[in-house]
Amino acid sequence: MPFISFEGIDGAGKSTHVQWLAAVLRAHQQTVITTREPGGTPLGETLRQLLLNDAMSADTELLLMFAARAEHLAQVIRPALQRGEWVLTDRFTDASYAYQCGGRGIQPHRLAVLEQWVQQGLQPDLTFLFDVEVDVAQQRLTAHHRPDRFEREQGDFFERVRTVYLQRAAAEPQRIRVVRTDRSIDAIRCELSELLRPLLPAKACE
Ligand code: ADP
Ligand code: TYD
Repeated sequence: MPFISFEGIDGAGKSTHVQWLAAVLRAHQQTVITTREPGGTPLGETLRQLLLNDAMSADTELLLMFAARAEHLAQVIRPALQRGEWVLTDRFTDASYAYQCGGRGIQPHRLAVLEQWVQQGLQPDLTFLFDVEVDVAQQRLTAHHRPDRFEREQGDFFERVRTVYLQRAAAEPQRIRVVRTDRSIDAIRCELSELLRPLLPAKACE
């Protein structure tokens, strides 16, 4: 069954839709797991705490992201796909290109080596890129919680992250669908339902 990732700069609004989309799929009799990165396994959640809180070099950050991802693929994502379940993940490797390459300045060819090593060709079937202006996203974030190590970055960091996300969407338009989030949550949900329709088994669309 499909493997779907949710991406976007912090505060774009992606997490708002993950559980909702899972509920829509379950209403269509689909078996779905929801998960997130960094995280998704006990070891991955421990690495998440380090990544979100502790100072570290850009290389360390990238390697820990992929260590968590290797565990996530081995323990959660591949087994669920083999059982025939849908997998919805709040972030995956596009986030590493956007944050570690765009944000931190790591060369993409270095990341590509890790991607090939850890994923061995496995890619999401569909990626929703939740996109909004950086200042709108930042206002949404400050409204709701204490910022983590990434969320404390300045606007220009998020501009670079957003640029890489949009470049990746332009390069892979079939996989990465840009969803504008400067509108109501209901309007966004209508668009998500439409984008999902081709992936649902024919019976589920009736
Ligand atoms: P992300 O997972 O992309 O960091 P969230 O989904 O946690 O973002 O949303 C960040 C904040 O913005 C939350 O308080 C959420 O309720 C709010 N939010 C999400 N989508 C919208 C929207 N379309 N319009 C206004 N506020 C939104
Ligand atoms: P996220 O769970 O989306 O944070 P929140 O729920 O607070 O919005 O992601 C945590 C942070 O990790 C986010 O700022 C982006 C960052 N990140 C990377 O830098 N690289 C990656 O490969 C991943 C998966 C996340």
